[in-house]
Amino acid sequence: MSLVHEIDYGTPAPRTDKMVTLTIDGMEVSVREGTSIMRAAMEMGTQIPKLCATDSLDAFGSCRLCLVEIEGRNGTPASCTTPVAPGMKVHTQTARLAQLRRGVMELYISDHPLDCLTCAANGDCELQDMAGAVGLREVRYGMEGANHFAPASELTLPKDESNPYFTYDPSKCIVCNRCVRACEEVQGTFALTISGRGFDSRVSAGQSEAFLTSECVSCGACVQACPTATLSEKRLIEIGTPEHSVVTTCAYCGVGCTFKAEMRGEEVVRMVPWKDGKANRGHSCVKGRFAWGYATHQDRVLNPMIRAKVTDPWREVTWEEAIAHTASELKRIQDAYGRKSVGGITSSRCTNEEAYLVQKLIRAGFGTNNVDTCARVCHSPTGYGLNQAFGTSAGTQDFDSVEDSDVILIIGANPTDGHPVFGSRMKKRLREGAKLIVVDPRRIDLVRSAHIKADFHLPLQPGTNVAVVTSLAHVVVTEGLVNEEYVRQYCDWDEFQDWAEFVADQRHSPEEVQKLSGVPAELIRGAARLYATGGNAAIYYGLGVTEHSQGSTTVMAIANLAMATGNIGRRGVGVNPLRGQNNVQGSCDMGSFPHELPGYRHISDDATRATFEAMWGRPLDPEPGLRIPNMLDSAVDGTFKAIYIQGEDILQSDPDTHHVAAGLAAMELVIVQDLFLNETANYAHVFLPGCTFLEKDGTFTNAERRIQLVRKVMAPKNGYGDWEVTQMLAQAIGLDWTYTHPSQVMDEIAALTPTFAGVSFKKLDEMGSVQWPCNDANPEGMPIMHINGFARGKGKFVVTEYVPTDERSGARFPLLLTTGRILSQYNVGAQTRRTENSVWHPEDVLEIHPHDAEQRGVREGDWVRIDSRAGSTTLRAEITDRVAPGVVYTTFHHPGTQANVVTTDFSDWATNCPEFKVTAVQISRSNGPSEWQEDYDAFARQSRRIAVAAE
Ligand code: FES
Repeated sequence: MSLVHEIDYGTPAPRTDKMVTLTIDGMEVSVREGTSIMRAAMEMGTQIPKLCATDSLDAFGSCRLCLVEIEGRNGTPASCTTPVAPGMKVHTQTARLAQLRRGVMELYISDHPLDCLTCAANGDCELQDMAGAVGLREVRYGMEGANHFAPASELTLPKDESNPYFTYDPSKCIVCNRCVRACEEVQGTFALTISGRGFDSRVSAGQSEAFLTSECVSCGACVQACPTATLSEKRLIEIGTPEHSVVTTCAYCGVGCTFKAEMRGEEVVRMVPWKDGKANRGHSCVKGRFAWGYATHQDRVLNPMIRAKVTDPWREVTWEEAIAHTASELKRIQDAYGRKSVGGITSSRCTNEEAYLVQKLIRAGFGTNNVDTCARVCHSPTGYGLNQAFGTSAGTQDFDSVEDSDVILIIGANPTDGHPVFGSRMKKRLREGAKLIVVDPRRIDLVRSAHIKADFHLPLQPGTNVAVVTSLAHVVVTEGLVNEEYVRQYCDWDEFQDWAEFVADQRHSPEEVQKLSGVPAELIRGAARLYATGGNAAIYYGLGVTEHSQGSTTVMAIANLAMATGNIGRRGVGVNPLRGQNNVQGSCDMGSFPHELPGYRHISDDATRATFEAMWGRPLDPEPGLRIPNMLDSAVDGTFKAIYIQGEDILQSDPDTHHVAAGLAAMELVIVQDLFLNETANYAHVFLPGCTFLEKDGTFTNAERRIQLVRKVMAPKNGYGDWEVTQMLAQAIGLDWTYTHPSQVMDEIAALTPTFAGVSFKKLDEMGSVQWPCNDANPEGMPIMHINGFARGKGKFVVTEYVPTDERSGARFPLLLTTGRILSQYNVGAQTRRTENSVWHPEDVLEIHPHDAEQRGVREGDWVRIDSRAGSTTLRAEITDRVAPGVVYTTFHHPGTQANVVTTDFSDWATNCPEFKVTAVQISRSNGPSEWQEDYDAFARQSRRIAVAAE
């Protein structure tokens, strides 16, 4: 695979079936109407020299290198900005053009430093390449390295090294504008400008600020776009140009960006967003692009460890001893306490194949269905709610669909922080004119950001989602905005009528709902009218919907709204959960819930169970097993004794930390498989080192049901892939597993799971990715679901009665705490905290409205204590009107904060998903960490000790 400068075709051709035929250099070529001459030439194999044009940006025509001659026209137009025309005769290589191009290049090179031929970007610089392509041998003027003098001095401007990941060297800038346009058009941040004039013009971040302190979000789009070494990865400068590359899938959020890992030996030089990646289309965020250094961080544990008690120091052992000890402990516990005294948790960070094997081990090997996954605490209501309404537990669209949306409704999600690459695509569509409705207690960035302003922001009180979404439906029904034709054709009409009667009741009117949600009635009415009548309307939602006691109800209310307005089953519309973790969709698909086998088939179904029993050669329990909170409850009760946790840190990620700690402490065997000694490992007796996505083969499934290959770029530093460790454990307890590669696991998944029947590593290799269902009916997958009818038959309307959460604010706890993520950190921070991303977010802070802060005498940066019914913690205050009075907000990326000490054990009625988003709290000034934090710190320090091996 070529490492640098894959062929770039200039601005992509428009979507049209109309073809135009023209002649280029004497050869006839047919291309789509609206295609640029440059792209038409590239498609027939002729590369026209260029500097400012690139696939990811609209043609700009600034560098004047791509000139061509057109018979019958004067001058030499730029081929990147000139569209083809029928019968056009174009010449790309003439003596006149060659001379003009050399002249242009000579000017660029003369304005460039003397070290051009020895600079770090050698072999990775389009300027150098183009100088060669146009035959420039000699530069007659300048060439003194005197580019861009600082006005008041005789020195060239210094490099800006402030960003931890890339440098900016203004002396090498050719002011082609590509970085500025990438920041605007691709990322949508508008952080860069061109300042100065003539030879002194240069790119600057913000008002000539350092990159680090500017608005720059370090997505890397500018570095990617730069055709010279002006913006360069520091790793490239340190390590040198890469030698080979491997295309793989990012392991951060549910967007599932494809990257080209560029390597020198076993070392990653850089991760370059892959322009053919169907989820990211060549874009990236600061996490996937730069924050992968955790893979080689010194904290990684590479040897298995065991201990008898959690207060003992860890003892490093061989893999053989660790596996044999674990298997014998599992046997001892099951013999003593029964088959159902053990269980496990699969990981949404691991591959489909790994999640599949863990649930198989528990069901077939342990003989119990006590298996659950971290989706329990995030998107389990999505699985339940969408399955009820549509018949599938997944989002309905692909990401490309947003390009056809006229109205975007975001509920309880913050795409620019949580799903930044898709957030950028959303912003692009909004800049093109799509309307925006945001339903969120907090003023997320999209409500007001560069060139974007939400048409409606409904700042509801946390916990009132069902009331507000049902009220939107009330307006749709009572104002005659239902798409009756759609509903009659595709949905159950009787259920619709019952539902319509329910939502039309006056108690769901905006005026009534205003009283409990705090959202002005006119905003609810305006938003509902816009959603129902504004054209293609798409809903995107996140954990602000699911992590509530009525999470499943809100998901069904959202589905009702989409069906009632006919916004399902075509591009631009749909119901789209923005999944938090890279493989949360996949871990759910793979049968990680206690009641479901892979493909969401109930464990009690005899026929389904018989298929798995035949393939696995073991009897399966027809009774659903325990969910995570039930496992912890049973542990406290003394009936659940052992757990195998792959790639999760439940002590930090699950609610009511005291309860999680009590459950773990009550078990006789806690097996943690992870990269680092995480917080849960403080309660573990066996630690099995895990490996990173860079060290494994497999697949991830992103939020759009897209299954993509994860390819190994280096050998596992701990010796084994995670799937191999699970297999060793399975063999040690008597299972006859003999997989030699994860592709064989996928073959088994395909054989057992109808929606995956057509999936194989070979197909994924050939197609790049595929969106399930992929089977005989849909051999290339299904980008958009529920076209001409629903997977379940008729779409189901469900009555969504609003039931207020039991978690209420009152005199003792008068504020409502809600939680979320920030761009630079990820989830519990285990990876991002071990990278330089912490420069942007070194600690969690509490956002509090100025009014609430003043009432409590809290000033910016003060330590404050949060008290809830569950517990207390401390952190620093940030005073901001992003949150409404009465609401406070924090992130949960840092274990020092332990934000979940204060969250309660209230949970979704249908799925037990915890109510992270509503906790009644009181805030007061504090002198520092709470007693619990200090005690826990001391315990964690003791628990993490590793015994020094005897000589
Ligand atoms: Fe066409 Fe720069 S590539 S003007």
